[in-house]
Amino acid sequence: MVAKQVLIVDDDIQVREVLHQIFLSAGYRCLLAADGPAGLGIFRASHPPLTVTDLKMPGLDGIAVLGAIREMDPDAAVMVLTGAPDVKTAIDSLKLGAYDFIMKPVNVDELLIAAERALERRQLLIERRQYQELLERRVDEATRNLQSAYRQLQDTYRATLETLGAALDSRDVGTEAHSRRVHGYTVATAREHGVPEQELVDLAHGVLLHDIGKIGIPDGILLKPGPLTREEWVIMRRHPEIGKRLIEKIPFLRGAVPIVYCHHERWDGSGYPQGLQGEEIPLGARIFSVVDAFDAMTFDRPYSKAIPFEAALAEIKRCAGTHFDPAVVESFLRVPASLFEEIRRKSAEP
Ligand SMILES: [Fe+2]
Repeated sequence: MVAKQVLIVDDDIQVREVLHQIFLSAGYRCLLAADGPAGLGIFRASHPPLTVTDLKMPGLDGIAVLGAIREMDPDAAVMVLTGAPDVKTAIDSLKLGAYDFIMKPVNVDELLIAAERALERRQLLIERRQYQELLERRVDEATRNLQSAYRQLQDTYRATLETLGAALDSRDVGTEAHSRRVHGYTVATAREHGVPEQELVDLAHGVLLHDIGKIGIPDGILLKPGPLTREEWVIMRRHPEIGKRLIEKIPFLRGAVPIVYCHHERWDGSGYPQGLQGEEIPLGARIFSVVDAFDAMTFDRPYSKAIPFEAALAEIKRCAGTHFDPAVVESFLRVPASLFEEIRRKSAEP
């Protein structure tokens, strides 16, 4: 077993020697210093776990020695020795980090018990800190693992969505540029409407997948060049329901269901599939139907020419309260025209 080590700092040679003998007899290895600077020099070189220093010394006093040692090694145990007139200073030294104070004349048992206690307390503090550091390292490690798993999950989500997007493209259900524009308009309008940022991801998924149910509509109807018959419309109008069934069991896409299922509902209750009215229609779907109509009007489609921005805005305004939620229309109209232009420009980029 490694011998316990103590540094004794006292300018009085008699006291120093008494302490030396007491600690020697208790099995300590002793380092001796006759003043503060010498004590600090020895401490710097050997870092003993325990230091016993006199308070009243010429030059550097015990309080200064205590401060310097604690600065060099916050784990160092320091006890101060004091005569009766200096008890207040000794008590103050405890506030500065001293482990204990010993009154002179020194009582052997008291001194050795205090020394043992100081060393034990030091050891406990060190172990506690090491344990805390270990815990912190484990928490860091667990956090890193979690972040990595989360990134992998996000990659999987992205890949899944890209695959779904490609499936939609292959069936001629909207184009990528249309999706990007409508996504941009939806986010801008949602922000203007006060939708919390964390809900925007669900909105984005809903925008991308709103017509995913068209995958289940026969080609003869979906790709028919002319107008649909009444019966064909009945089938075509099933796409929100088909889309809902396709994605509602996929946890990370569940937030998209309201837009997928309700994007053809109308504020006045004349929409489908449920004929919901007013605020019964989920907010995401109410926002989406405004921006989707706006984009359809302002871009050329196979059977209709684009109309100017102002005319499209006037039409949206005209339909507020019948087709669209008037409050959403107001938010939509507050989105600056320059932002629309920017979204259109960016969406056209390859
Ligand atoms: Fe649709």
